[in-house]
Amino acid sequence: MIETRRIDVAATAAHQRSARLAVHLAGAGPLAVLVHGFPLDHRMWTDVLHGPLAQRRTLCAIDLRGHGGSPWCGDDVHTMQQFARDVAAVIGTLGDGPADVCGLSMGGYVALALAAEAPQLVRSLVLTNTRATADTDTQRAGREQAITTVVQEGRAALAAGMLSKLTAPDCEPLRVAQLRTMLEAQPTESIVADLRGLQQRPDRTGELTAIAAETLVVAGEHDAITPADEMRAFARQIPGARFEIVSGTGHMSPLEQPHAWSEVVGSFWR
Ligand code: MLT
Repeated sequence: MIETRRIDVAATAAHQRSARLAVHLAGAGPLAVLVHGFPLDHRMWTDVLHGPLAQRRTLCAIDLRGHGGSPWCGDDVHTMQQFARDVAAVIGTLGDGPADVCGLSMGGYVALALAAEAPQLVRSLVLTNTRATADTDTQRAGREQAITTVVQEGRAALAAGMLSKLTAPDCEPLRVAQLRTMLEAQPTESIVADLRGLQQRPDRTGELTAIAAETLVVAGEHDAITPADEMRAFARQIPGARFEIVSGTGHMSPLEQPHAWSEVVGSFWR
């Protein structure tokens, strides 16, 4: 069974407005937080929440501010640091110490920000379909184009340009439809704030050697956004990190092949 709870996050001076976050819990055992990608919400983890990992961990799929059941707070920019402070508040509220932290793509950027800023809250890291580098100039220009598309033409137009890049070419059509539903459900203001935050995020490559938490890096065999070879090289920079590839998946490995992905993560979360 999945239980939904609300967690209030207080405003911090200058940085961030207060937020009411929806979190979705399943299972039992030590706390593990799951952080979704752009511009999605906790529903990308639905099959994972219902799968075998819930026998080993209390899984907590967070709706980042402005996504899913967490309303947009009026922020013009969603920085990865701000999202990380929200995740820290969730761990502080639900946990009795550090948590296993798992993030996909944008969620991975958030996990890396949390590991840098509050390492005492991170028992272990799962970085799936993500990277440590900042945007290149070309990627920043692409974000600008995406802002224009979503503001002027709407979320369906943004989805039309994005969906084929998110999954492996032979992904089940129902999975793609699930992604479309999620993407089109997020507030436009929030999508714009995400895109600005993604554009501004810092390069964390230099911090990888300082990660002390046990880390698993998971790639999708056909990931066109964060390719497996790039992720293998990124994993090598984290002391002792394990690296695994989920066959047949694109950028959305846990949604495309939840059983195979959960097996890989389950062998890490013993
Ligand atoms: C995501 O899935 O979160 C995005 O691909 C992140 C990004 O565009 O950098």
